[in-house]
Amino acid sequence: MTELSQIPLAGVIGYPVAHSRSPALHGYWLKRYDLKGHYIPMAVEPQNLERVLRTLPDLGFFGANITLPHKEAILSIADVITDRAALIGAANTLIFRKDGKIHADNTDGSGFIANLRQNAPYWDPAAGPAAVLGAGGAARAVVAALIEVGVPEVRLVNRTRPRAESMRQDFGAKVVVYDWTHVGEMIEDCATLVNTTSLGMTGKADLPLNLDRLNQACLVTDIVYTPLKTQLLIEAEDRGNTVVDGLGMLLHQAVPGFERWFGLRPVVDDATRQAVLAA
Ligand code: ATR
Repeated sequence: MTELSQIPLAGVIGYPVAHSRSPALHGYWLKRYDLKGHYIPMAVEPQNLERVLRTLPDLGFFGANITLPHKEAILSIADVITDRAALIGAANTLIFRKDGKIHADNTDGSGFIANLRQNAPYWDPAAGPAAVLGAGGAARAVVAALIEVGVPEVRLVNRTRPRAESMRQDFGAKVVVYDWTHVGEMIEDCATLVNTTSLGMTGKADLPLNLDRLNQACLVTDIVYTPLKTQLLIEAEDRGNTVVDGLGMLLHQAVPGFERWFGLRPVVDDATRQAVLAA
């Protein structure tokens, strides 16, 4: 019989954590590939986060995903932080290294791009500016990734303008801040439009955005995935724009962690989507 200590363990740490789809996703992949391993949801209060993280490697954990409210706080606990996690100011994927060090990375941005590449293969980020709605944690990951893949300009608009201004300072001259009153002209010649706010989510108001001036070649995507088709995506699709929903970002951001902990790079396909939606 295999010793428990030889079976790779990983999990997601949040507070609360019951809403997380990560256990369903990793559990599905473990079963699909017939791998030994367990992925466990862990509700950890902020004051216990560091103690729990320092204990997990001894229990056989190879790493963990980090979700709300710990994604920023983890940076002051981790021993090694990737450049992109530092720039974003948050991490979502931890590797517990053999030397005892906790390595923190942020895979939200690469997951965002992988989702677009998979579902809109003709999308060319360099074809024009990208319009990004929102300036929270998710926006920071999205903007970092868009700049990395070569967008010529990121146009940011946020309800609270100082938050967008502070992103401009962190991300540099490619970021231009707009007011909501000018959002029509902001989106006019964009190649990409991304909603990173929570607006459009089930139970929340829809985005107050008029798409009349949006050009038809613009790819429209939302990081919200409940509902899968937000009002933004429905309206954009009605106009003939290519749209990509946010579920794929959630699935793709999980790939690097799974590969590292369980030793196999999992695919993201329709069966994966269905497994997570059914959970
Ligand atoms: P996340 O880490 O998921 O991005 P967040 O940091 O709380 O979460 O950011 C949420 C984003 O949604 C922010 O851009 C927020 O705008 P503010 O910076 O002005 O708070 C935006 N948002 C949330 N509710 C909103 C609303 N009712 N109207 C407009 N924007 C809203």
